[in-house]
Amino acid sequence: MTSRRRPGSLLRNLTFVIACLSPFVQAQSHETSAPSEAAVQQRANTLLHHMTTDEKIGQLTQLFYQYFPDTVSFEERIRKGQVGSFLFITDPVAINHLQHVAVEESRMHIPLLIGFDVIHGFRTTFPVPLALASSWDPSLIEHVQTVAAHEASAAGVRWAFTPMVDIARDPRWGRIVEGAGEDPYLDAAVTRAQVRGLQGPYLGSPEHVLACVKHFAAYGAADGGRDYDSSYVSEDLLRNVYFPPFHAAIDAGVGSVMSAYMDLNDVPASGNTFLLQQVLRKEWGFSGFVVSDAFAVQDLTTHGFASDPQEATYRAFSAGVNMDMGSKTYLANLGNLIEDKKLSTAQLDNMVRPVLEAKIRLGLFEHPYVDVAQTEAVLKAPESRALARLAAQRTAVLLRNESHTLPLSKSLSSLALIGPLANVQKPLQGPWSFAGEPKDVVTILQGLRNKLPASTRIEYAQGTDLKREYQNDDNTGSDAEIEKAVQTAMHADATVLVLGELDDMSGEAASRSSLDLAGRQQRLLEAVAATGKPLVLVLVNGRPLNISWAAAHVSTILDVWYPGIEGGNAVADLLFGDANPGGKLTFSWPRSEDQIPIYYAHNLTHVPETSKDFVSRYWDGPSSPLYPFGYGLNYTSFAISNLKLSHRQVGAGERVEASVDVENTGSKAGDEVVQLYIHQRSGSASRPVRQLKGFRRITLAPGGKTTLSFALGKDELSYWSPSTQAWVEEPAEFDVWVGEDSTASLHDTFTVHP
Ligand code: BGC
Repeated sequence: MTSRRRPGSLLRNLTFVIACLSPFVQAQSHETSAPSEAAVQQRANTLLHHMTTDEKIGQLTQLFYQYFPDTVSFEERIRKGQVGSFLFITDPVAINHLQHVAVEESRMHIPLLIGFDVIHGFRTTFPVPLALASSWDPSLIEHVQTVAAHEASAAGVRWAFTPMVDIARDPRWGRIVEGAGEDPYLDAAVTRAQVRGLQGPYLGSPEHVLACVKHFAAYGAADGGRDYDSSYVSEDLLRNVYFPPFHAAIDAGVGSVMSAYMDLNDVPASGNTFLLQQVLRKEWGFSGFVVSDAFAVQDLTTHGFASDPQEATYRAFSAGVNMDMGSKTYLANLGNLIEDKKLSTAQLDNMVRPVLEAKIRLGLFEHPYVDVAQTEAVLKAPESRALARLAAQRTAVLLRNESHTLPLSKSLSSLALIGPLANVQKPLQGPWSFAGEPKDVVTILQGLRNKLPASTRIEYAQGTDLKREYQNDDNTGSDAEIEKAVQTAMHADATVLVLGELDDMSGEAASRSSLDLAGRQQRLLEAVAATGKPLVLVLVNGRPLNISWAAAHVSTILDVWYPGIEGGNAVADLLFGDANPGGKLTFSWPRSEDQIPIYYAHNLTHVPETSKDFVSRYWDGPSSPLYPFGYGLNYTSFAISNLKLSHRQVGAGERVEASVDVENTGSKAGDEVVQLYIHQRSGSASRPVRQLKGFRRITLAPGGKTTLSFALGKDELSYWSPSTQAWVEEPAEFDVWVGEDSTASLHDTFTVHP
């Protein structure tokens, strides 16, 4: 591509020199506070003023450093100003090298923005996002992302493609593991915490990164849970369910947004003007930049949306995608579109400006390089591992503990540890852990050895192998292996059986048609349970699995998700009572995939819920989930009582305070997540039977008591009405429930009057 713009006049060049000298001033401010809006804009405009069309297009071009070889060297492209950003590069020496070429050898000296999927940690792998959400602990999540940002930025990665906030109500969809589950209110709270953790108090905070909320929007509604398949979602559901976490990210100041891959109501999200212009920019006032998902610009042709790459460029660009991730489609086509006047230079400037502004805010012009001597120390900080252990403890969900098998006694003389996930490292990281090192992961076997005295005999048996490609076969082991596992269980005081999914069984391109325990795991489970010995089933997973048999036959089930680098130690802490599980489900756990989609915030039907004559929903099986949204047990017990409302009647816009007393009535210290749900009884549209509108995770010592209060105001009581096509707070009677999960029974009502 040839240069389409010549360098400007002497005066312009002088302005440019002054702009380049300003780093000193900027460097000062970078350390302490955000530069002023006006200063950032002025600097970006000055840069734009001196850039050629090709250099501008370069800023909208992001290249993969790994996996997709290029015909031209990266250095050559950088020198020519053809690239503004790289992804999938994590080696600080290589990053410094590329930055050097950009800053020293390109005409405009514009630093590169290095992006990466810092999803649940960088070197220190934390529990997967679905697990983090299960903590219902925004301060923990913020802390985790702060550490992830610190590690990433110490390696030169200044842009994280996180948080992934797609609501998922179909767990066959593999990417449910990357989000916060089924509920918009919880997801929004988790999202805000992630943005705060990643970006810090302002975009450009030292040791933080630029966050990227993704995938805009409704990717989680893919038909049948099949990854990348089309989503058909009404505007009502978009605005009330799928958009709120994105809106929360924008309100929290997220600097970038990633457009999704799939068709939304027949228009690909990466060419979708309604999403990227109308909602994101006009309604929400987003002023950062949008990056396409990987190759999504080019893929507008495979979608059958654009006839060729040039049209794909035109569609994505005019819809509002600033940066083309990976496909070089903008690089090859934007210049022609501008030369042919199908797009204007002013439009191009408007698309480049927020990218430059992000680089300015991040302080990249002043600090393009990373101090390689410091990197390893940051990545190996012991405090980060300690936080990973705490996070894995706080994210676990105790699903069943019928005969109080847990916590186990440290004085048992022998323990059987069985299962294909009991002595593995990489699978405990879960998907999206590219910068983490599997060799650093503590296995569950190792965690138990670390915990128990040398005199305790720990016998391990794999029982069956597990492989993604074999998941529906019987090819993953033999009856002899299962028999060996059974014998191991027979000769031990208690058995811990670790089943679930490998890391490559969930995540992107990892949807499943079945939620069954893959391979021979169910057979292994039934054989080990038949021994009648005390049995604890530990699940390692990124989605609900079909455990209905276990829920009826195994007295103790603990879900630890993909727990990350300190997984083994945290599991041992939980099993032996050094940590008390306090996590809660962020989705309704189906009895089997036959119930999907299943979510607690469904509407009422025309028939009373208790009707025996005309049965709403299924007659041949329960319509309720195996475990409800918000559910999770504990080694202690809590009583929640004395629900009080500050008002019985309020006007629109006024607030009602709901308070409850919470008491730890058991004998161990523990955490409870107190949850508040509402229901609007009538209005211009049907409203869900229950909606989460408040929660708090608290710790109480045995006998400890506290009073919690929750505010219900305009934000909690409004919704987008499909009848009026607007956000409304309507006069109506409202139910309020407070309790331990979405089936809470402590109840009262209040009225909003006109
Ligand atoms: C995923 C994104 C990810 C991107 C870059 C895509 O395939 O959908 O979530 O950020 O790759 O790795």
